[in-house]
Amino acid sequence: MKPDQNELITRIGPGTPCGAVLRAYWQPVALVDEFEPRLDPRMAQRPVKALRVLGQDLVLFRDAAGQWGLLDRDCPHRGADLSFGRHEGDGLRCPFHGWKFDAAGRCLETPAEPTGSKLCERVTQRSYPVLERSGVLFAWFGEPGRQPPFPAFDCFAAPASHTFAFKGLWQCNWLQAFEVGIDPAHPSFLHRFLSDAPLDAIGDNAAGKQFRSASAGELAGERWPMSRIMREFHQPELSFESRPWGLQLTALRPMTEELTHVRVTQAIFPHTFVIPLSETLTITQMHVPVDDTRTYWYSFFTSFAGPVDKEAMRQQRLQFISLPDYLPKSGRHNRWGFNADEQRTQTYLGMGEEDINVHDQWAVESMGPIQDRTREHLGTSDKVIMANRRTLLKAIETVQAGGTAPGVADAALAPQMQGPDTVDGIAPAGAWATWWQEKAQAKRAAAPWSASAAAARSSADTELT
Ligand code: FES
Ligand SMILES: [Fe+2]
Repeated sequence: MKPDQNELITRIGPGTPCGAVLRAYWQPVALVDEFEPRLDPRMAQRPVKALRVLGQDLVLFRDAAGQWGLLDRDCPHRGADLSFGRHEGDGLRCPFHGWKFDAAGRCLETPAEPTGSKLCERVTQRSYPVLERSGVLFAWFGEPGRQPPFPAFDCFAAPASHTFAFKGLWQCNWLQAFEVGIDPAHPSFLHRFLSDAPLDAIGDNAAGKQFRSASAGELAGERWPMSRIMREFHQPELSFESRPWGLQLTALRPMTEELTHVRVTQAIFPHTFVIPLSETLTITQMHVPVDDTRTYWYSFFTSFAGPVDKEAMRQQRLQFISLPDYLPKSGRHNRWGFNADEQRTQTYLGMGEEDINVHDQWAVESMGPIQDRTREHLGTSDKVIMANRRTLLKAIETVQAGGTAPGVADAALAPQMQGPDTVDGIAPAGAWATWWQEKAQAKRAAAPWSASAAAARSSADTELT
């Protein structure tokens, strides 16, 4: 890849071509939990947060009526930082000269101006629409009024009782963060355990244990942990198909004449992937740039069976990530916890068995803040990464020419934004394609929330037409 092309697909600040593509999609900006006084005592007194998203400095607050306000952070008077503002219930007041703004960015008062001044009526601070979905606040940074419908994917259609959201910061560019998630070859190496844990020792919600769960199906009457399949069959046959939201990825690992392991995951353009965590849980992970060299991942855990235990899931993750900024405890500063003994005897990587997120974190952070793609050598097993980069380059061209960004940004495709399905299982070799679809349909049909989600979707469709 040429240096200018690498620049083009990684720089996302205001005014950049790739930034314009990312601004064509609703972007996660904070967990609702970040305003929970139990998790951040400062919020009891003053529900205000300084944010940086897509290279823009912002302030997010909740007013006394429960309304979310997301505004540019520089006061439109003389530029002081509004995240230090006085929270007055109906708005945020800049402590420099007392100008006050409501959640929509309207200027309510300019108290130093002479009585009768109309200055206030001429000033508006840019505000960004905010939506709350599955425990996460999403914002719209595109052209005002041009936001597409919010997609009705499973992770957003499932009720609060069946979803849990969490996040963490990675010190790297958004694209390399996303590219690890759409790389179906890496679990056989990066996440390899040299021996398997007993299947019954794995709780369904266990943090960071993605590949410890059982694959669906059996081989010779035996259930297999995903970790064993990943380790023993490390040359998957990869393929991808276009879907309205992006790419559907299939990794086949033939096991015997009769049986093949099939893992189907989804890439939702521009920066989201969906993977199975267990037979009844999926993870949807989004990668939103803080700026060019830092990225927050947001994960949505969706249960297709019983309700999730949010408190337990949060506590598990707080072992590895610290509040209030969701910074991982491992990182470059402590060599991501690398242990050479462990690498020799227990894991392929040597960065712990408890939290596989650290494995991915090492992979993406160790490349440097922005991967130098002029020095890489892609192989056949990187075909999904190449396909995604082609889509991204095309999307940049389309948006620059005034066209609509693909997938979720295209309102005409909204009714097709459903699912998307994933699986990890042992299938009959000749019939894996129908086998996995039946599995996925059965999983959805068994979800206690599937009927109400379908009803909500069809009423949303009616509203659209
Ligand atoms: S800079 Fe904010 S009121 Fe003057
Ligand atoms: Fe991974």
